[in-house]
Amino acid sequence: HSFLVLNGPNLSRLGKREPEIYGCLGLDDINRGLADAFPDITFEFYQSEYEGALLEKLFECEDKGSVDGIILNAGAFTHYSVALRDAISAIRIPVIEVHLSNIYAREEFRRHSVISEVCAGVISGFGSLSYHLGVQALMAKAAEKSS
Ligand code: DQA
Repeated sequence: HSFLVLNGPNLSRLGKREPEIYGCLGLDDINRGLADAFPDITFEFYQSEYEGALLEKLFECEDKGSVDGIILNAGAFTHYSVALRDAISAIRIPVIEVHLSNIYAREEFRRHSVISEVCAGVISGFGSLSYHLGVQALMAKAAEKSS
């Protein structure tokens, strides 16, 4: 398998940013952890603070056929980016929405995701383990498709 791990705004600041909520691992640590835990999977890692850059990455993967699944932590775009939602519905590659924190146990404005409806599933609240569970979910989905 070949998976894209896509992170949106402020996730470049992991480790330094509100560690009591998001943990003390940096994004590089999380990405390295994934590569170590799933040696048979080819990962592409990408992070941007910009909405348009995330959309372009989704379209690039779709057009190149370079990955067969996407793990996406869209950060705050989760809660309001209709553009991101439209981009996810415009591609065929399955996308799993992940969050480090449990977005349902926080402020009211975080309880709604505009992207969940167009994602294959949602994993929220398990810290860096959310990404690992996302990879497992994509693997299970791919196995389901090929059987
Ligand atoms: C987040 C939750 C979002 O509400 C927040 O804006 C983030 C991180 C998470 O991983 O818990 O930036 O997606």
